[in-house]
Amino acid sequence: MKRILVTGGAGFIGSNFVHYMLGEYDGLELLVNLDLLTYAGNLENLAAVQDDKRYVFVHGDIRDRALVNELFDKYGFDTVVHFAAESHVDRSILEPELFLTTNVVGTQCLLDAAKRHWNLEPDNKYCQEYKEGVVYLQVSTDEVYGALGKTGMFTETTPIAPNSPYSASKASADMVVRAYNRTYGMPVNITRCSNNYGPYQFPEKLIPLMLHNAKNDKELPVYGDGMQIRDWLHVKDHCVAIRTVLEKGVRGEVYNIGGNNERANIEIVNLILDVLEKPQSLIRHVQDRPGHDRRYAIDNTKITTQLGWAPEYTFQRGMGETIEWYLQNNVWVDHVISGDYLDYYTKMYAKA
Ligand code: NAD
Ligand code: TYD
Repeated sequence: MKRILVTGGAGFIGSNFVHYMLGEYDGLELLVNLDLLTYAGNLENLAAVQDDKRYVFVHGDIRDRALVNELFDKYGFDTVVHFAAESHVDRSILEPELFLTTNVVGTQCLLDAAKRHWNLEPDNKYCQEYKEGVVYLQVSTDEVYGALGKTGMFTETTPIAPNSPYSASKASADMVVRAYNRTYGMPVNITRCSNNYGPYQFPEKLIPLMLHNAKNDKELPVYGDGMQIRDWLHVKDHCVAIRTVLEKGVRGEVYNIGGNNERANIEIVNLILDVLEKPQSLIRHVQDRPGHDRRYAIDNTKITTQLGWAPEYTFQRGMGETIEWYLQNNVWVDHVISGDYLDYYTKMYAKA
């Protein structure tokens, strides 16, 4: 029975993962969600699980060493799944320092607590032989590999070459995770996933932003020519992939995760306009993002052939369900857009 620390579980992928693990994973004894509730963290995402006896929410910062150590001592985690991060490229261009402290120092703080609690030292036997039953999983991104031209795909051995402060911070965190593996025998995995879509994504990212604007007859801001390519994966498939790596991954290894689903941004925008029956005249080509990566594409051969994972969602089904979810969950979207969700925590815990 696993005792899992999930960080950033109130964000987009983290909250989907919390739902998935509590709903579909039999071997779960405890899941503690440590989240700072930045603008991107929303406890409304987790309202349906807040009374689950296996679930504990802790409002706090991954950079708070005393708190993270205290949580390890109190709950005795055997598994860490680290999602918490500043995750938006455009924000990283405006505020790089926050990305470095949260994404790099935050990661190192978690690794230190795990190392201390799991008794890993440079000269102990676990450098040769991993300690049984414990794992630290770093949720990373394909963006650490930089940009592709018209051809080729990212494999796990593609050189790391990040182009934005966000991807540089994620790449740096990956290097720290690797170093803790090599130096202290930390049983780690790093997963590098392509762009996710699905429910609970903050409407600053491409798909929920365009959906919201189209629905409200507002302009759709397409950066540059809109021919940048991303490899889209439904968030549930990402969650299943992470569980697969926890269960079957070879410790110390990196696994790329992607759905073989490359789309140009403009194609996504047109699809949204079509489904919502809105005119193309809403599209507005705006100034391109500085350092904008032209194309990402994941080669998922390693995880599919070695661990037996494969995406279940077709893009048609995933986008259909996602568009429907955003249309059905007006209240969630309105709260996020207006910032009202920030009051939720105060109200929730004022009752307790
Ligand atoms: P998100 O921005 O939606 O959520 C991030 C969460 O982390 C929020 O709940 C926020 O409150 C929390 N957080 C931020 N700083 C914190 C801190 N100092 N202490 C504790 N909690 C803090 O992000 P997301 O899109 O769900 O991404 C989750 C992870 O997956 C990130 O590490 C990201 O790099 C990675 N990733 C995302 C994608 C994607 O398409 N969204 C793709 C690949 C990898
Ligand atoms: P985003 O969702 O921010 O993810 P990432 O930058 O991590 O891939 O953006 C996805 C793509 O959509 C990216 O090429 C930038 C583009 N984009 C726009 O064209 N307009 C927008 O308003 C946003 C937010 C993104």
